[in-house]
Amino acid sequence: MKKRILIVLLTVLSVININCKESISEEEKLKKTAEISKISARLYGGPLVDMLFMTMHDKGVKNAVEYCGGYATEYTKKTVPKIEQRMIQDFNIKSLDVRRTALKLRNPGNKPSETEEKVLLEWEEKYKKNEEINPAFFNDNGIYKGMLPIKMTSPDCLNCHGSEERRHKEAYAKIKELFPEDKAVDYELNDIRGAILVKIEF
Ligand code: HEC
Repeated sequence: MKKRILIVLLTVLSVININCKESISEEEKLKKTAEISKISARLYGGPLVDMLFMTMHDKGVKNAVEYCGGYATEYTKKTVPKIEQRMIQDFNIKSLDVRRTALKLRNPGNKPSETEEKVLLEWEEKYKKNEEINPAFFNDNGIYKGMLPIKMTSPDCLNCHGSEERRHKEAYAKIKELFPEDKAVDYELNDIRGAILVKIEF
């Protein structure tokens, strides 16, 4: 009987020991969140902007509508999930999800959670006061999140997100058909448009 208790005790202790070795501290998780988020934002956002601008210049603004976010392109449908899988393996994490969010939405599917909205509102305040805007990395109820600001860095963005006079008429008509509730307009150059949102489970 005593022997059995001892064996159970040793097993429990060794399991605890293994778990301790594998689990990383909160500080390390946040550090890893920052690293993974920055890489993901590049891998996700860089090619999207390149493809959007290339299509806009080669085929015209109207034909580039589905390239912002790339919801209908091979890159977001096929390549992005592969990149996410590769990052999950390389960084030894449970899951990774990279998307975009904003306060004024075009695609209602990009709606921020309450915590994400708070970060976006803080950025707006800072932007109004001309203060520096930094990415945010935090633990949101066990899901680790990275938010990196997306700015209206090019006048070309205004073709589809600018004021009525500035927008490309035909392209915007197509956008309104796809997104009748669109609110993502009246931006000016350098405004904060939203965030790349990275969600990680360790
Ligand atoms: C040719 C039109 C077009 C151009 C140019 C364009 N966008 Fe968009 N944008 C869209 C469309 C359409 C969507 C909705 C796509 C989706 O997420 O399903 C969108 C969505 C977004 C979103 C996601 C948030 C939301 O409202 O749903 C962000 C962020 C964004 N655009 C930023 C930019 C930036 C920054 C630029 C310039 C680099 C830019 N866009 C240029 C058409 C455009």
